[in-house]
Amino acid sequence: MLKRTHKCGELRAEHVGKTVTLNGWVDSYRHHGRLIFIDVRDHTGVTQLVFDPDQGREMHELAATYRREDVIAAQGKVVKRQSVNEKIPTGEIEIVASKTERLNKCAKPPILPDEARDDTGTVSEDMRLRYRYIDLRRPRMQQIIRTRHKVTQIIRNTMTAMGFCEIETPVLCKSTPEGARDFLVPCRLMPRTFYALPQSPQILKQILMMAGFDRYFQIVKCFRDENLRFDRQPEFTQLDVEMAFVEQDDIFAAFEQVIRAVWKELLNVEVGAIPRLTYEEVTNTYGSDKPDLRYGVKLYDITAIARKCDFRVFTSAIEGGGVVKAIAVPGAATFSRKQTDALGEWVKQFGAGGLPTTKVIAGGKLEGGIAKFVEAVAPELIATLGAGEGDLICFAADKLDVANRVLGELRRKLAGELKLAREGQWAMFWVVDFPLFLWNEEDKRWDSAHHPFCAPRPEQLHLLDTDPHQITAQTYDFVINGHEMVSGSIRIHQPEVQQKIFQLLNISDEDAKDRFGFLIEAMSYGCPPLGGFALGLDRLIMLLCGTDNIRDVIAFPKTQTGADLMMQAPSAVDSKQLDELNIMLKPEAK
Ligand code: AMO
Repeated sequence: MLKRTHKCGELRAEHVGKTVTLNGWVDSYRHHGRLIFIDVRDHTGVTQLVFDPDQGREMHELAATYRREDVIAAQGKVVKRQSVNEKIPTGEIEIVASKTERLNKCAKPPILPDEARDDTGTVSEDMRLRYRYIDLRRPRMQQIIRTRHKVTQIIRNTMTAMGFCEIETPVLCKSTPEGARDFLVPCRLMPRTFYALPQSPQILKQILMMAGFDRYFQIVKCFRDENLRFDRQPEFTQLDVEMAFVEQDDIFAAFEQVIRAVWKELLNVEVGAIPRLTYEEVTNTYGSDKPDLRYGVKLYDITAIARKCDFRVFTSAIEGGGVVKAIAVPGAATFSRKQTDALGEWVKQFGAGGLPTTKVIAGGKLEGGIAKFVEAVAPELIATLGAGEGDLICFAADKLDVANRVLGELRRKLAGELKLAREGQWAMFWVVDFPLFLWNEEDKRWDSAHHPFCAPRPEQLHLLDTDPHQITAQTYDFVINGHEMVSGSIRIHQPEVQQKIFQLLNISDEDAKDRFGFLIEAMSYGCPPLGGFALGLDRLIMLLCGTDNIRDVIAFPKTQTGADLMMQAPSAVDSKQLDELNIMLKPEAK
């Protein structure tokens, strides 16, 4: 084999005169009279090869048969090109081939690794996933997967420098409490029993603290059988971290060091001071616990102003104990009646009855929509919202949480459509003081806002017996540009508090013992104060690479229905395997 001396994106004018060998895939071929031009590609770029019959007839004849995605080797002299191709880094040179070898003939490729085809949408994502090995040859995919590698290296180096120890935890596990459905694996050696794939190493990392590893991390796969979305995969990767003898500030400092290192080393961006906002503050001001703070469009409570208006929608909401809130969306006053009507329909999925709107026009006046009902309070309303000409004011009159949710979702949707977020800007912040419990109206019980091991604020422990809803947890999220990247908490380290929380969550003693007995037991044998976090690595890479499709940042991802189209997984298994596992399948439902 003609082994490469250089990569396909490396050669420059300074190499002119050298004899080199390249290996790669045929990216394009053109036959110009006697000369054959072949662009050969690897992950570093492309180089133009020229085949001249004067350099060898057999070689030339072979080159004439080269087609897209054939794998070839070529040796030859680097020469200056007559007409420079400014578009590619190797555009000043070409190689006049003297030897060539076809290393592998490519069958007619079902898709081609061309950016252009992808951008015009001519290749469906299903085809890209089915033939992932061709799709991954695309420069964009190469860049993303290699960025992912760089980021994990930066993370590993930073964690190690801070004294963290990387420890692997088992994949064949017991059910963990992240709230999604488990993937189960039947155990052959113990019939009728199952392992669960870990939704996260949550319990084990807590136990590692009790085991004296006071700074643990792992870049680890987690498995959750939940409904998939643009930023959710059934198996995804976390940077999982736990620390002992710490308080919240110590954990924040450790994570901030990681995020600063990644931004500095990858993007050469210095991350400034990172604000902390309370859960209450963000949900009231932005209608979400993960708002995008690259733009304003705050939610304002205008109940006091709305009281003065003779508008049924407002007055009945207020009489029912609700609030009236509003946002002013810059540039949205151009929306047609049809568009605002469509928004009124769209918000219904979040519990709103409709969406009253009005527009701010010149001279501080309101026009259209519900203008006639709010005309009298226009100056006050406009001043409160800080609204200006060209803004569309949208109202929500409802219970506080519904009004927040409706306007929060609307804020996100309209900011996206109107491109209010500036590219290249990073809005990072911590959300702190989450409630410990959320009321589950459907099942009429308390749920953990996060997971059942999150510690209440110590000064609020007495409220466990009287007012659990008032307790804030030492739980936190880290948000970047509207995406939840991290969550974590200080954990409970006293068994009696843990038991009380289980009771409130309606987890019976028996159930708790069955599911987490080993944790509670371990807690009683010397548990240090502890806490930690997990970073969604796939989501971080999405953000760093500017894609809103999680499948783009995973080499072999699953589709929305959890399928791997290349491997054709999941798949049926033969009856012998089932017999060995003691499993009988139910007949298919008709
Ligand atoms: P949590 O469940 O919030 O916390 O997960 C932490 C982070 O992991 C990412 N993430 C996902 N990414 C892709 N696909 C998914 N299906 C998915 N689910 C979660 C998110 C999220 O912020 N054990 C706790 C952490 C702790 O308390 O230390 C945990 O797993 O970015």
